[in-house]
Amino acid sequence: MPWRHPSSSSLIDLGKRYWLPVYKPRELVLDHGLGSRVWDTEGRDYIDFGAGIAVNALGHQDPDLLEALTAQAHKLWHSSNVFYTEPPLRLAEELIQASGFAERVFLCNSGAEANEAAIKLVRKWAAGQGRPPERRVIVTFRGSFHGRTLATVTATAQPKYQQGYEPLPEGFRYLDFNDAEALEQAFGAGDIAAVMLEPIQGEGGVVPAAPGFLERVRALCDAHDALLVLDEIQCGMGRTGTLFAFAQEHIRPDIVTLAKALGCGFPIGAMLAGPKVAGVMQYGDHGTTFGGNPLAAAVARVALRKLGSTEVLMNVERQGNDLREGLARIGRELGLFEAIRGRGLMLGAVLREPHKGRAGEMLDYAAAHGLLLLQAGPDVLRFVPPLVIDDQELAEGLRRLHAALADYAGASTCQP
Ligand SMILES: Cc1ncc(COP(=O)(O)O)c(C=O)c1O
Repeated sequence: MPWRHPSSSSLIDLGKRYWLPVYKPRELVLDHGLGSRVWDTEGRDYIDFGAGIAVNALGHQDPDLLEALTAQAHKLWHSSNVFYTEPPLRLAEELIQASGFAERVFLCNSGAEANEAAIKLVRKWAAGQGRPPERRVIVTFRGSFHGRTLATVTATAQPKYQQGYEPLPEGFRYLDFNDAEALEQAFGAGDIAAVMLEPIQGEGGVVPAAPGFLERVRALCDAHDALLVLDEIQCGMGRTGTLFAFAQEHIRPDIVTLAKALGCGFPIGAMLAGPKVAGVMQYGDHGTTFGGNPLAAAVARVALRKLGSTEVLMNVERQGNDLREGLARIGRELGLFEAIRGRGLMLGAVLREPHKGRAGEMLDYAAAHGLLLLQAGPDVLRFVPPLVIDDQELAEGLRRLHAALADYAGASTCQP
C-alpha cells in the first residue's frame, strides 16, 4: 500500500495563493527521490527524465553527496568571503585543473549570477583596453538562454523573456546561431568585445553548435581581439559525454560559466577565467555574500569528481545512445517527431507538424504515466535525465513515454 499524504491539493493551493505566479508547476507535489526515481506526496513514483532541469546529475540521494553535505553541515555552514574556508579553496583548484584552461574562479550561487559575472568581466576587460563603452558589445545568438537578471535576460536573445523589462542594458547584439558568415560580417563594425554562447542551446530547443562553428567563432574572436565566453550551465558537467562540452571542439575558451549540475541540486555557480582575463578583476570589483559557501562547495567537490569519472562519462555515452534509439523508435511508431538532436544525455525530440506547439500537453500525459519530462520551447521535448540513470530506469522511462505519447496521439484531434 503506497504511503499517502492527505493534503497535496491543499499544498498546491498554498502555491497558487502565495507564490508570485511566474511558474506553472504540474499539479503534483514531489516528496522524495532515489536514483532516477521520484515519489510524490500521494505515493506515486515517477522516472525522472528532467533531473530538476539538468541539475540532479547524480540522481537523488547520492550517498557521497549526502556524506559531504552532512559532514560539512556539522562543521560550518557559512563564513562569507571575508574569511577563508577549505571547501571553496579546494573546489577552485579542482575546477581549474579539470578545465584545462582556467587560471581563476569566481564562485557564486546560480547560472544567472555566473553569467552576470562573465558579462561584467568582459566589460571590465574591454574598459581596461581603453575601448569606449560603445565598443564593448557582446554578441549572443537567437534561441540562447543565459538567465533572468536584467543583464543576462538581455544576453538571452529571445524577446519573450525581455518584454516589459525595458529599458534593457545596452551593448548586446543578436545573430543567428550557427551563422559564422553573419558573425564575420558583424566583426566588421569593430565594436565587438566578446561572443557568448551555449555549445548546445538548452532552453532554445536543444540545438547543438554545428560542426566547426565553435572553431570558426574562436578564430574570429582571435582575429578581432574579442573574448569567447561559453555558457556550459546546462550542457556542462558531463552531460554531453565529456566534463566540459567544449572539450569535444578543439578550442580553448576565455571564460566558462557553470551552475546546475555543479551542485547536483545544491545551489552553486562558477565563472572560470582563462589567462587573458584572469587578472582583470581586482579587490572590490565584484562580490556576493553566499558565493563559495562551504556547504555548496563541499557538495560541488564531490559532484565534480564523480561527474568527471570514466564510469559516469561512459554511462552518459551508453545511456545516451539507448535513449536516442528509444526516442527514434517511439517517434517512428507514433509519427510524432521530425528529428532527435543533441548529444550524450541532453537530447531533444523535435515535434513535427501538426504537433508543433503541443509539447506542454505531452508533458501532462507524461506526468500522468509516471514520467517527469521537460520541454524546450513549445516544439521540443527535452530529455536530461540523471547521468547515472541505469538500464532498468531508462527502459522504464521509455516505456512510460511510449504509453504517454500513445495516449496523447489517441486523444489528439491532430491528424498525423
Ligand atoms: C544555458 C543556461 N544559462 C543560464 C541559465 C540560468 O541559470 P539559473 O536559472 O541558475 O540562473 C540557464 C538555466 O536554465 C541555462 O540553461
